[in-house]
Formats: sequence, C-alpha cells, structure tokens
Amino acid sequence: MSSDTRQSSGRRATRGNSPGSASKPKHLAEPSARKPRPKKVVNELLENDLIRRVSYDQYRGKVQEVYAGPKGAILSKCSQLSGHVALGERMFRRRQFDLRGCREILDVGSGAGQILGHLLKYADAEAHITGIDISTPMLQRARRRLKSNRPDLVAADLANLPFADASFDCVTCGYVLEHMPEASTGLSELARVMRPGGRMLLFTTEDSFGGAWTSRIWCCRTYNRRELLETCRAQNLHVLQELWFTPIHKLLRAGGICVELEKRTATVDAPLDAPD
Ligand SMILES: C[S@@+](CC[C@H](N)C(=O)[O-])C[C@H]1O[C@@H](n2cnc3c(N)ncnc32)[C@H](O)[C@@H]1O
Repeated sequence: MSSDTRQSSGRRATRGNSPGSASKPKHLAEPSARKPRPKKVVNELLENDLIRRVSYDQYRGKVQEVYAGPKGAILSKCSQLSGHVALGERMFRRRQFDLRGCREILDVGSGAGQILGHLLKYADAEAHITGIDISTPMLQRARRRLKSNRPDLVAADLANLPFADASFDCVTCGYVLEHMPEASTGLSELARVMRPGGRMLLFTTEDSFGGAWTSRIWCCRTYNRRELLETCRAQNLHVLQELWFTPIHKLLRAGGICVELEKRTATVDAPLDAPD
C-alpha cells in the first residue's frame, strides 16, 4: 500500500482489514442460497452470475482483479463519458442530497474518487471525510485524481467495515452494493456505522437491460428495486426520496437505483414510505 492510503482511519478504526485479509463473516462463507425474484429472460442470460456461483472470498478476489486492471484504470474516464460524474455532482450542487451540517462523512467504494470529489467540493469545511475501497490500486488512483490529502483513504471491505458503531452522520455508496452477494450484508454494515438520523446516498445497479450489461462488464449482480427498498427498511434505513439523474433517466429507468436513506432507530414506528 502506498504511503498516501491508510489501512485505517485511526481514531475510529476498530478492526484492521486489508483487502484479501479480512476475517470472513459467517454469512459470507458460502455462495448465496436465497432465490432472487425471476428476472426477464434476456437480462437473466446477460447478467454475470459469478457472485452466485463461488464463495465470497473467491468473488472478492475477482473483483479486486477487475478493478486493479485496465478496466479500473479507465473507470474515471468511463464515468465522465457516461455523465455520471457531472450528473452526480448536480445532485450535490442542487442540494438534492444536502451535505450541509454533516460532520463525519463516509464514502464507500470510492473507486477513482468520483463521489469523493463532490464531497470535497460541497461538504462543510469542518467535515471529516473518509473513503474506503476494497481495491488499493483504486484508492491510489483516487488520491492522484483528487490531488487532495483531505480525505482519509482506507482499504476495507463493505462487508466488514473497520469503524465503530454510529461513527458517521453521512454515507455515500455509489455502485458498490452490487458487489455484495446479498444486499443485507452491505446494508447492515452501513446501518451499523451510521448514527440514528444519519443519511445515506445510495446508487446501485438495477435489474434492467442496462443493468444486466453493467453486471457483465463489472462482474457484479443487479437488484430488484422493490426488494432492495424492502431490505433497506428491514435494516432501519428508510427511504427519504428516490432520485434520478435526469427525467430521461427516469423515463428509461436508466442510471440504476438512486435513493436517499435515513437511519432510524428500531424503536421508531416509521411509516412504510418507500416509493414503488
Ligand atoms: C463502479 S466503482 C464505483 C466508484 C464510485 N463510487 C462511483 O460512484 O463512481 C465500484 C468500486 O467499489 C469497489 N468495491 C467493490 N467491492 C467492494 C467491497 N466489497 N468493499 C469495498 N469496495 C468495493 C471497487 O473496488 C470499485 O472501486
């Protein structure tokens, strides 16, 4: 690991966790057994199914290989081309996801620093920003691309975050949850490190035709929107709003599932307010 990426963020870190060396939670030991809802046949055929066929350790190794290689190297350019960086920035600039007042911000699966760049630009000057990624080469690319020492960059796995409970009042998680065999695995970790009342901006790949292509290219799974939002609620992550990059994205159901979630305590009798 280079000197500009860290193994843990120091004061909040509770568990050492480098890529490939993380202790394996029991629920990740074997490939997923739960049956997903049926998808359209074409999408089913197109979608990459490695995540369902191998153990989490084997799958994680493959993901690290993918992002360490040329695909990872061109990822930041791809994001620019697909418009996600610019359109994502617009959500922050327009305060559709409002960072004001957030003091401890975690960006999960920082990649080449696409969302971290927005956090640096729109978060309060006093906010402490941490980025994690399972791929050390991606964190190094993020550091180079951002040209900033402000965010702490930590090599860590979403399935086993090296932070104490309730460490963050804000989380961003862009296109990473699709690298979990089950949404609940990543969401429960995210909910654990969030403070009650904390908010999360979540982007993930949907089980559409476009999503199936994304899955093939990036070796990930896709999610059914309704099932994912149900899983969020089960983790006390309540949907505040469903977001779309543009009206065209909404019309074409492109860009994946984009939602703002709020962590609530289990005792709050919250309404089921998720959109369909
Ligand atoms: C598609 S990129 C997303 C980059 C950025 N967040 C964005 O929104 O454009 C996915 C990133 O998630 C990382 N990743 C994949 N599985 C992960 C895991 N289990 N824990 C942490 N990061 C992971 C990959 O290494 C990659 O850098």
